[in-house]
Amino acid sequence: MVSPPIEAVTLDPWREPGIPLDEQYRSWKQRVKAPYDKHDVDAYTRTRVILMNGVENGSWNFSHHFARSTDDFEIRSLLARTRMVDQQQQTTINWLNPADQTVLETTIAYEQVAIDLTAYFARNEPNPFVREAFNFGLLEDFDHLYRYSELLDYLEGKDPNSIVQGKTEIFPGRPTSEHHNDPEVRLLRHYEKNRAHPLSKLHTLTLLCGETQTYNFYKEHGPEYGNRQARELYAEIGEVEEEHVTFYESLLDPTETLLQRQVMHQLMEVYNYQHCYAHETDPRIRLIWDEFLHMELEQLQLWGQMLLRYEGIEPEALFGDTLTVEFRFEENKGYIRKVLGQQMDLRQWNSQWMDKADVSGEWPSHRYKELVNADGIPSEEIVDLQMLRQDPPERPGEELLARAREAALEVRE
Ligand SMILES: [Fe+2]
Ligand SMILES: [Fe+2]
Ligand SMILES: [Fe+2]
Repeated sequence: MVSPPIEAVTLDPWREPGIPLDEQYRSWKQRVKAPYDKHDVDAYTRTRVILMNGVENGSWNFSHHFARSTDDFEIRSLLARTRMVDQQQQTTINWLNPADQTVLETTIAYEQVAIDLTAYFARNEPNPFVREAFNFGLLEDFDHLYRYSELLDYLEGKDPNSIVQGKTEIFPGRPTSEHHNDPEVRLLRHYEKNRAHPLSKLHTLTLLCGETQTYNFYKEHGPEYGNRQARELYAEIGEVEEEHVTFYESLLDPTETLLQRQVMHQLMEVYNYQHCYAHETDPRIRLIWDEFLHMELEQLQLWGQMLLRYEGIEPEALFGDTLTVEFRFEENKGYIRKVLGQQMDLRQWNSQWMDKADVSGEWPSHRYKELVNADGIPSEEIVDLQMLRQDPPERPGEELLARAREAALEVRE
């Protein structure tokens, strides 16, 4: 059932009271909480847990990068303190995942995060160029969900709908075998920091944290499977996630200072905890989002004051007086079918998108794709293997693919 839309929440992130920083550290016992039950968790509670783990890891990682690039003690000290809290929050969140949820089941949920996050952002993205980038990435993660779903059935005999709960559709998108590009091809024109809508910055940074987390998860857990097919599929899709990190990070304006980025990370944490809190259906987990939202508000304000002191810039001037949070995890089926219908055959080059029929022989990705796909394509092989298990043999996505094509035609007409 689709829940009724809740109006966007607007808050004053620069003044909303938070939890004082020296009251934000937690004991081991407070930090590690009981996991959710994978049999009755709501699919979107699970996606919130996965997203916020990625957001915290992203902030932690950036804070270390900043610390290694500054000699200012006051900044390094605040970085160390806020980073320690981020790291504790990350433990609480990631430890909500239960031990009996397999790597592959969690993987299905990672792709569900990517799909419903990217689709919603694309629907609401103010910058048309950034929106097209999101649409392009969306169709790739959409196909990953399909490939991993076949692997889940093949290896564990499980229905991927036990994870996505029918909220996200599963059928082929732009084929994964086509996601492999010469690395330079993925680079995009960046937004302009003084002209970009704050929402474009928040969307981009959130997606970037999500994609980085996905990359790390596949690269870390892929080898835990003994099955060669599984190991190869994780290697192949793991590399596409590297392409996605390169792709989305190239949207960031490189002239943003590290301090401005730090404020942006904090604001992005506030933004994401706010929607988690607003839409969480598990009352126990909702309390966690509420507490962490108030930790981040305090951290944001401390970093906003740093920005004013060191660069003479009011954070409001860069990111707006108020923060309106409209995001929610929800179904995006109609939107995704429409984008599939219009953009399935697009390819990328020189910060532009073009139909694959119009890509010239000079396109560097031809060579790269030929090289990596030279002796077999794991994302195709898993579908072939699944076909052999059908009687009579047919490709498992066939009927669904037909549905997708039909949807594509409907949209084109
Ligand atoms: Fe945090
Ligand atoms: Fe993906
Ligand atoms: Fe991705």
